Amino acid sequence: MLNETYVLSNGVRIPRLGLGTWFIDNDKAAEAVKQAVTVGYRHIDTAQAYGNEAGIGIGVRNCGVPREQIFITSKVAAEHKSYETATKSIDETLNTMGLSYLDMMIIHSPQPWAEVNQSENRYFEENRQVWKALEDALSAGKVRAIGVSNFLQEDIESLLEAVSVKPMVNQVLCHISNTPFSLIDYCQRNGIAVEAYSPVAHGEALKNAKMKELAEKYGVTVPQLCIRYDIQLGTIVIPKTANPTICVQTQNLILSFQMMIWKS
Ligand SMILES: NC(=O)c1ccc[n+]([C@@H]2O[C@H](COP(=O)([O-])OP(=O)(O)OC[C@H]3O[C@@H](n4cnc5c(N)ncnc54)[C@H](OP(=O)(O)O)[C@@H]3O)[C@@H](O)[C@H]2O)c1
Repeated sequence: MLNETYVLSNGVRIPRLGLGTWFIDNDKAAEAVKQAVTVGYRHIDTAQAYGNEAGIGIGVRNCGVPREQIFITSKVAAEHKSYETATKSIDETLNTMGLSYLDMMIIHSPQPWAEVNQSENRYFEENRQVWKALEDALSAGKVRAIGVSNFLQEDIESLLEAVSVKPMVNQVLCHISNTPFSLIDYCQRNGIAVEAYSPVAHGEALKNAKMKELAEKYGVTVPQLCIRYDIQLGTIVIPKTANPTICVQTQNLILSFQMMIWKS
């Protein structure tokens, strides 16, 4: 499973399973990366907003696996909504991580966090400016792929009207009890890979009796069931765990069963 890759629209390969690192503290991030890489992970997802880019960078540089074998994503903070601030933040990320390039940089959210679910302003023009910063970083070789996150269809359509490079991914909330089927379908029809974040519903799935029952039926753990679900939807999946034992468990079994999925 950890060796499986997906080819993005510009030909760059991304591992289908990555390590999410939200809520992994900066001082624990290097060790989390090292342990994940030791058990086979080759894809790490961080963000400017997570405050752990420095630790992730240390982990990547010291994990014993050549840099080019690890796919690293970070995200331009949702509050950067101009060409200048986005460009500066990409350079800061590279400096903070101590890396000469990132594999992918994505816009964290179309709206600044304080306005999510509060405002109807979708920041269409501002996101085109931020996208231009990402396109320039791509041309300059600072990043190998660029994308978006939490973008609705209307946000993507607005970008596509005005930009020269299409987003290679849209990273969205996607788990068994919250699946954006029509957005996934729209992205996939347009050659935009979907990355499923919070596949275990921030850990809530572990507490759900129905999920436990289903996992038992397939002879797997609840996280394995959750990851398998997203894989079957054709997405790239980035579960978070700070626990190396769990990392080992995760790579087993995920390909060994097939679920029935009804779209509603
Ligand atoms: N783009 C965005 O706006 C956005 C938003 C949210 C998340 N994300 C990304 O997606 C990643 C994952 O999402 P998330 O952190 O919200 O939650 P998640 O992956 O849905 O769930 C994480 C929780 O599940 C547990 N878990 C994971 N795998 C497990 C396993 N195999 N066995 C047992 N427990 C397991 C973890 O426990 P332990 O940690 O104790 O092991 C943790 O409590 C984030 O870290 C981040 O990289 C992106």
